[in-house]
Parts: sequence; structure tokens; C-alpha cells
Amino acid sequence: MSDQVTDGWAASASAWIVEQGDDGDFGRRFVLDAPMRARVEGRGFRNALDVGCGEGRFCRIMQRAGIRTTGIDPTEALLARARELDPQGDYRLDRAETMEVDASHDLVVSYLSLIDMPDLAGAIAKMVAALRPGGTLLIANLTSFNTAGQPDGWTRDREGIPRFAIDHYMDERPIWVSWSGIRVQNWHRPLSTYMTLLLDQKLQLRLFVEPQPTAGDPDRIAHHRRVPFFHIMEWQKP
Ligand SMILES: C[S@@+](CC[C@H](N)C(=O)[O-])C[C@H]1O[C@@H](n2cnc3c(N)ncnc32)[C@H](O)[C@@H]1O
Repeated sequence: MSDQVTDGWAASASAWIVEQGDDGDFGRRFVLDAPMRARVEGRGFRNALDVGCGEGRFCRIMQRAGIRTTGIDPTEALLARARELDPQGDYRLDRAETMEVDASHDLVVSYLSLIDMPDLAGAIAKMVAALRPGGTLLIANLTSFNTAGQPDGWTRDREGIPRFAIDHYMDERPIWVSWSGIRVQNWHRPLSTYMTLLLDQKLQLRLFVEPQPTAGDPDRIAHHRRVPFFHIMEWQKP
């Protein structure tokens, strides 16, 4: 199967593992980890399903918070790394859209993985089915304003000033993005597509934030603050 008809994750796995290192890349280490940890720690969650767990970093973080975790991901090489770093952990080869679930989880997490899922409606339905009544769905995602600027992202205007151009915002589409030896397919979808699918599941929105970098290289921070990057949403199943 060629890379063009897969999503690129198998071929990108080793570069991804290097990019994440021990502490995650810039966005995880300096932007998302702190608010994501704050949403899972000390809230009495007993078990969690991490959908699109990659090499398992957030499962390990949740375990340190006393939460029993199951990670699912369709990329074998990332799961192999997750098992290597956490031999006692529960990591399963699966896709969000087709995973077998029952309504037994206090917490379901998607940490920057909804953008990777071709069948978003199917994936969200399964994630909700995995939650017990009253359970929490915690999502970190790239904003739709950001994905609408991909793959070109930053370009220079006539004065040479970097600008981030958003275009074809309403058109859902796959986009191929490349950085640091990684080349994967993401999906751009308007924000309303995500919100409508989540609301259609009768979920209740409990949190919506756009976290900013809290540390790191000042140039990187300034760059990050110029455009919408990430949001975190927390939804509750009635
Ligand atoms: C950007 S990575 C995020 C990995 C991890 N959550 C983290 O934050 O480091 C996206 C992950 O989604 C996985 N993925 C791709 N398609 C998926 C699908 N249909 N269902 C579940 N996971 C998927 C990829 O294999 C990859 O590990």
C-alpha cells in the first residue's frame, strides 16, 4: 500500500517518537500538557480510554495520576514504543471508528487525534459509547482556523512579513502536513462540524479553552500567539 493511500503514520512513526522525546514536542510540553493534566488529576477518574494514544505519553501521565488506562491506536510502531516504555500497560491496535467498546469508562481522551480520523462521526459515536453515564470526554485538538491554513500555513506578504492565510474554511478535506521528518494526513473540518457531532450525541459542554504557551523559547511563544493553534474541550455524557 503506498503512503498516499495510507495516512502516513506507519512511515512517520520513528520520526514521531524522536520528536516527542521524553517530554513531548513544544505544543505538548509548553501549551497542552498542563491544562490537560489539570483536567484529569484529582477528579476521581478510575479508568480512561486514550483514543489515538500514539506512543502512550498521555497514558503514562494519567497512570501517574492513579488512573487505569487503555490506549488504542492503529499504528503498530507507535504501540510497540508505548509497550516498550510501559510493559504493564494496556495498549491495543484499533481505530476509533471500529473499536469494540462498552459504557465502562469514567474518562475518554482524544489528545490531538480527532484531526487524524477519517470518519469523525463514527469515531465520536464510539467514544461516547465507551463512556459511562456521567463520564467525561476530554479533547485537545488543532483549531479549525489552523487546519484551514494548512498545508501552506505561513507565507510572506509583499513586505516580507510572515502571514498565516486561512482559506476554503467551510470545505472539509484531507491535508498532508510535513515537519521534522514526519508526513501525515490530517483532516480540516469547520468548527461547526465538530460541535454539531458532539451536540448530536447529547453531550454537555463543560469547558472550552484556547491555551497559550506558558514557557519555552520567546520567539516560539510570540509565533504561537499570532494564530489560533489549539483548543481543549471537555464534554459530559448525561
Ligand atoms: C498527532 S498523533 C497524537 C498521539 C498522542 N495522542 C499524542 O498526543 O502524542 C495522532 C495519533 O492518531 C492515530 N490515529 C490515526 N488515525 C486514527 C484512527 N482512525 N483512530 C484512532 N487513532 C488514529 C495515529 O496513529 C497517531 O498516533
